[in-house]
Amino acid sequence: MNFLPLIEAKREGKILMRDQIQEIVREFTAGKIPDYQMAAMLMAIYFRGLNTAETTALTLAMRDSGDVLNFPKDKRPLVDKHSTGGIGDKVSLPLAPLLACLGFRVPMISGRGLGITGGTLDKLDSIPGFQTLLPGEKIVAQVQKVGCVICGQTDKMVPADKKIYALRDASGTVPSIPLITASILSKKLAESLDALILDVKFGCAAFMQSKTDARKLAKAMVALGNECGTNTRAILTDMNTPLGRAAGNWLEVKESVACLDPRSSRREEAQPNCRLPIADCQLDGLRTLVLDCAAHLLVQTKKSKSLAAARRLAEACLISGKPRAKWDEMIVAQGADLKAFNRKLALDSTAKAVVEVKSEKAGFVSKCDARVIGEVIRDLGGGRLTKESVIDFDVGVDQITKPGERVEQSGTLCRVHAVDSASAKSAIARLKTAFEISAKRPAKIPLVVEIIS
Ligand code: URA
Repeated sequence: MNFLPLIEAKREGKILMRDQIQEIVREFTAGKIPDYQMAAMLMAIYFRGLNTAETTALTLAMRDSGDVLNFPKDKRPLVDKHSTGGIGDKVSLPLAPLLACLGFRVPMISGRGLGITGGTLDKLDSIPGFQTLLPGEKIVAQVQKVGCVICGQTDKMVPADKKIYALRDASGTVPSIPLITASILSKKLAESLDALILDVKFGCAAFMQSKTDARKLAKAMVALGNECGTNTRAILTDMNTPLGRAAGNWLEVKESVACLDPRSSRREEAQPNCRLPIADCQLDGLRTLVLDCAAHLLVQTKKSKSLAAARRLAEACLISGKPRAKWDEMIVAQGADLKAFNRKLALDSTAKAVVEVKSEKAGFVSKCDARVIGEVIRDLGGGRLTKESVIDFDVGVDQITKPGERVEQSGTLCRVHAVDSASAKSAIARLKTAFEISAKRPAKIPLVVEIIS
């Protein structure tokens, strides 16, 4: 293939044809285009962009660069959720079993964390015995039998994305909306989904920091998903504050299991420092997002007529306790040692040092900076500085006091779980800077700010 004229065409802002894009993806995946030429093409795309037809062609060519999951015919729709990532974002964990109990099939192919953002697979790796790497046939078999699986991509799925993403990372071409859209959707479309809900986050700890950029990305992904035949919707959600009250791999598994516990709403109300109605203080953020994602998928697949009816259905299902039992079924199907898991769950902490971060004054929490908390957890060993970094599952932050809640002088802002007291001590100083306390109760911060359908 003579690749140079195609690079020059894109450099000049010309439109590439579908067969040219298919050939580029095929040849690059087969190692027949050198990295320096592909990097030049990616940079040309970064500056010139791709139109809808080009982005669709790129996405489908990337999806078809490897195996696509092939499910038998079944009346249960195939659905999934994708999040652009954030601190404490553990929605996938309780959502998968909830969706399975609502009559969906959920082939949830997830990723690992890099930098401050946690990854679903890293969280699940903290469960004794749990296997995240499954062959394609096992993924399909488990989805058919249990209703849900949460696992990693097989080596045979979307190999083009792996190669292109590595080059984007090394060539400064990650923040391109058509390239991000194609990368995310090629992987989701390889799951053969009927419907997809996207949680696109904005804020200081999000991939897209401004709401405007997040909206642009969400609109591009929704348009492309629908263009490719998967009913796709997005919600724009706030990621200035961590989601829920815990961040860190094992601590997030614990919080997810608590979210599935039918008594969890009562427990949240019983939080000692919550003086606001539950919906006002993002206290129920995790539960809200889990139920919202489920409700959208119920509407998208026409299982419910309205969002309000869908939410009631999802809530009733969560309260029934069935998704909690489905969680155990799912993790056992993926090799978890249930007894060891339950023993671990009963512990207050699995880290060597647990220390409370105390407020220096009384007042209302007006800010709880998710980026600072994410950086502290990464530096405690809970996240990756490079792809090769080894993760400590036990470190993290929990009992986070959320914006809108009152705290007394010397009251707990959060707790830090660390590998030793020296690292806990240095984390405490940094964690204090994440919180701002004001005399007046701050205005309510909405979690879900927009729906894009
Ligand atoms: N996540 C992905 O999978 N791909 C991107 O390009 C960006 C975020």
